[in-house]
Amino acid sequence: MDKQKKLMNQYVADLAVLNVKFHNLHWNVVGERFEAVHVYVEKLYDMLFENYDEVAERLKMLGEFPLASMKSYLEVTNVKEITVKNYTIPEVFEILKAEVENLKALATEIRHLADEAEDFVTVGMLEDEIAAYDKEIWFMAQAMK
Ligand SMILES: [Fe+2]
Repeated sequence: MDKQKKLMNQYVADLAVLNVKFHNLHWNVVGERFEAVHVYVEKLYDMLFENYDEVAERLKMLGEFPLASMKSYLEVTNVKEITVKNYTIPEVFEILKAEVENLKALATEIRHLADEAEDFVTVGMLEDEIAAYDKEIWFMAQAMK
């Protein structure tokens, strides 16, 4: 498997593990603005879940099997899971923002490899995802001021 496809599978794994990690924060955020942050985290994991399916299906189109077991996700992901406990709103934004920045960096690396391979369908798909990550990074930076 070439580097682009290998990283696409890592991206699939990161998105899968983040689905669980972000649910942890969705359920366990505490604070005066609980409802707003609870709903915001749901918006984020919904976006990640769509990307998860989209990237996995793109791997199928490229003739590869996307990773599709929790065991394989945990073997390749760079995402660190977190304890189940209460999280304050600043803690939640700090974790979310760092994870979305990591996704953006990985998606950007894959985008460049796809570009070198003249795989413009993957390039277009990832550029849309990166644009959405950029917007959320801005939202979170504003919320953290
Ligand atoms: Fe929910």
